[in-house]
Amino acid sequence: MSTATALRPLSADLVAGYRSRGFCRVEGLLTPAECARYRAESLRLAAEDGRLTGQAGTIYRKALVQRVNIWRDSPVMAELTLHPQLCAWASQLAGVPLRLWHDHALIKEPMNGAATEFHQDQPYWPHTHSPEPISAWIALQDVPPERGCMSFIPGSQRLTQLGATDLTDAGGLFALRPELAWAERVTLPLRAGDLTFHHGRTAHMANPNATDQHRVAHTVIFMPRSTRFSGSGHVVTHEMGFQPGDVLQGPLFPEV
Ligand code: SIN
Ligand code: NI
Repeated sequence: MSTATALRPLSADLVAGYRSRGFCRVEGLLTPAECARYRAESLRLAAEDGRLTGQAGTIYRKALVQRVNIWRDSPVMAELTLHPQLCAWASQLAGVPLRLWHDHALIKEPMNGAATEFHQDQPYWPHTHSPEPISAWIALQDVPPERGCMSFIPGSQRLTQLGATDLTDAGGLFALRPELAWAERVTLPLRAGDLTFHHGRTAHMANPNATDQHRVAHTVIFMPRSTRFSGSGHVVTHEMGFQPGDVLQGPLFPEV
């Protein structure tokens, strides 16, 4: 059976929920064997370059061990980042043609004692002309709340004027918009192989990992093909030669 014939569209209700609330949960992207393979590869690559420290180092390192653009270093992880079903779901939810912006291994070490605090993602990115960015967050083992699953503030994707906030400051986002502190928060535990999608402006956080296993998530961030470079600094575009106003395109930002 070809991959194309195996693709499963999302229900109209799920898409409508994503468009109004700014996030959704989708079950069954990966089998247990696929999760085990991608999880082992993420941990191998994070350990290889000394990122798994047993929580030494800064509070940022404590909250989250990250490896950006892991797909460029690992053909195994590239399979996941460019997974046809994943890309089809992201495109259906966004409702516009997409490219890959970047991916990340996102690891919380056992008993890390630090949340990833509420923030929007888009203010970190050097983007203009990008109304519908969408991120997938894939659980590579079961992620109950106590292992660091994500929580979202419904409707917060409509807030276009907030700036970047500190991922380790529990009050950072709420200092910008105090009423958000009293808004509904939706926590979405995930079984291995399930995922959440969130709009690039949906406010979200992840609990600390209070278990004895690494929490390994894989996030894939897609941007509309209309997205242009704003000129501000970012690790992904560093020294790539883009000028402000250029469309972010090329083989490192493949269309999906
Ligand atoms: C996390 O995985 O802890 C946070 C992910 C995110 O901010 O998108
Ligand atoms: Ni985020």
